[in-house]
Amino acid sequence: MNNAKGHISGVEIRVLQSPVECQHVQFLQQRVWESSDIDLVPAHMLITITKNGGVLLGAFALDGPRETGGMVGFVLSWPGYGTDHRGQLSPKHCSHMIAVIPEYRQRGIGLALKFAQREAVLAQGITEWITWTFDPMQRINAIFNLNRLGTISNTYILDAYGNLDDAINFGLPTDRLQVDWYLRSPRVLAATSAERTEHAWPAEELHIVPAPDTKTVSHSNLSRLGVEQTNSLAVPIPHTVNPLEDARMLQWHHFLRKAMQTAFGRGYHLTNCVCLPEIGWHYILAPC
Ligand SMILES: CC(C)(COP(=O)(O)OP(=O)(O)OC[C@H]1O[C@@H](n2cnc3c(N)ncnc32)[C@H](O)[C@@H]1OP(=O)(O)O)[C@@H](O)C(=O)NCCC(=O)NCCS
Repeated sequence: MNNAKGHISGVEIRVLQSPVECQHVQFLQQRVWESSDIDLVPAHMLITITKNGGVLLGAFALDGPRETGGMVGFVLSWPGYGTDHRGQLSPKHCSHMIAVIPEYRQRGIGLALKFAQREAVLAQGITEWITWTFDPMQRINAIFNLNRLGTISNTYILDAYGNLDDAINFGLPTDRLQVDWYLRSPRVLAATSAERTEHAWPAEELHIVPAPDTKTVSHSNLSRLGVEQTNSLAVPIPHTVNPLEDARMLQWHHFLRKAMQTAFGRGYHLTNCVCLPEIGWHYILAPC
């Protein structure tokens, strides 16, 4: 059971620091991403990060796996700098990984880890801004980041990590959306509150971009986006990427790349990922 502060009965969130706990984080990376040894964040680096302002938190379940000491999820971030919305170089926290092992998902553990990360960063008193990246093709991550945590984005990074050969990324360009989590902003407080309400999106408030055609990639509705456009945009997202054959996956990938780059170039911000009646899951981009 999850409450607004992210407390879940039978699950404890705590700071990780010991070499053994850092090795357990590596086991979790292997479980979740099926990462090869070369892609694991080294345990010695995790220890150095935690001793120098980084935040490494683990979620432990009473019935969690014995080989990870009961750890079923973790989140990792560290201090950094970035150009803020006023164009100034400012301190921020850079979040690099969050994972929950499959059999413990959809119980609120991911949210509890992010809420605890938020508290830890605010307690440092250095910054109220956390950024991270996610794959625009991954619908669950889009809902988690935009809808449930209240992040926003206007940054699209082409092939951010080069080739990754883990199970999730193999064979695709690693384009990423970078999200901004403004920890004390009204939208974050609203998204993470126990009384959160979903905004309804009537079709007349939206400019709905059609999904890519199965034979030819159509960007017709995107190229018509102009300065006169005042509605929010609804851009479709694939329901799931796994069963899509490679060609279709690449088509969606290029469609989303084009859509985000075009919209961001025209001043839109990505603000949500919602399920629209009858037409399914869409990104929402607001003119700013
Ligand atoms: C992303 C991840 C950490 C979420 O962990 P989790 O413990 O399952 O997340 P929660 O149970 O706290 O879910 C929070 C919200 O995310 C959304 N969500 C999570 N799983 C979902 C699913 N399968 N389908 C739709 N929405 C989902 C829901 O909105 C959910 O809130 P709700 O249940 O109140 O509607 C987990 O799926 C994961 O480890 N994924 C693989 C690693 C990864 O991609 N990490 C990068 C994330 S940016």
